[in-house]
Amino acid sequence: MTKVAIDGPAGAGKSTISKKIAKELGYVYIDTGAMYRTVGLKACREGIDTLDTKGVISLLDSLDIDIVASSGEQKIMLDGEDVSSLIRTPEISMAASNVSKIPEVRQALLKIQRSLANDKDVVMDGRDVATCILPDAEIKIFLTASVDARAKRRYDELIASGKEVNFDDVKNEMIQRDHNDSTREVSPLKIDKDATVIDTSDLSLEDSINKITEHVRNNLK
Ligand code: DC
Repeated sequence: MTKVAIDGPAGAGKSTISKKIAKELGYVYIDTGAMYRTVGLKACREGIDTLDTKGVISLLDSLDIDIVASSGEQKIMLDGEDVSSLIRTPEISMAASNVSKIPEVRQALLKIQRSLANDKDVVMDGRDVATCILPDAEIKIFLTASVDARAKRRYDELIASGKEVNFDDVKNEMIQRDHNDSTREVSPLKIDKDATVIDTSDLSLEDSINKITEHVRNNLK
């Protein structure tokens, strides 16, 4: 079984690129960020402040998260409901970043992430896939880009999906999330010693996908 780990900061293009690579290779794609987002959504729905560690931990016993593949797309389910598009808002991005600092949340999701990857060829993306979830992954990539390039992409995505947002808010939220993700005590975002760093600031999406697919293919040989 082959595991491809793709880590990097918010907006580096991980999920779009990982999805395409998984399709090309015929592997299963697993988006670990979507799981943190779903925990954030559950907290918001239950009126729990995502900075209230005890409150968030109290949700974990009844946490029912699943990832199901449907016609090539991945759906994330919370208590049997498809929440895939509900988790893509700036509010839930920040909630996800907050809950991801809590060790008990990471532990609960780690179990689900490893079991989803068990006995399958997978492309998994996140912040700690190479360093923590799948340390034995055959291919480890750290995908990054400048904060301006990442904020611009996230802004364009949100506008295209009909959300009303302002560029400076998106950029500030990205800076805040980078800070949260890199400075938290457990599993901070960092480059694994075996990872290949790919900077996509000056690459189009198509060029990024080609470059990374080529890297994966060359290294799988
Ligand atoms: O990739 P994303 O924007 O969907 O991730 C949402 C948040 O979840 C992000 O702020 C960091 C956190 N996260 C994490 O801590 N570990 C992962 N493996 C994936 C995401």
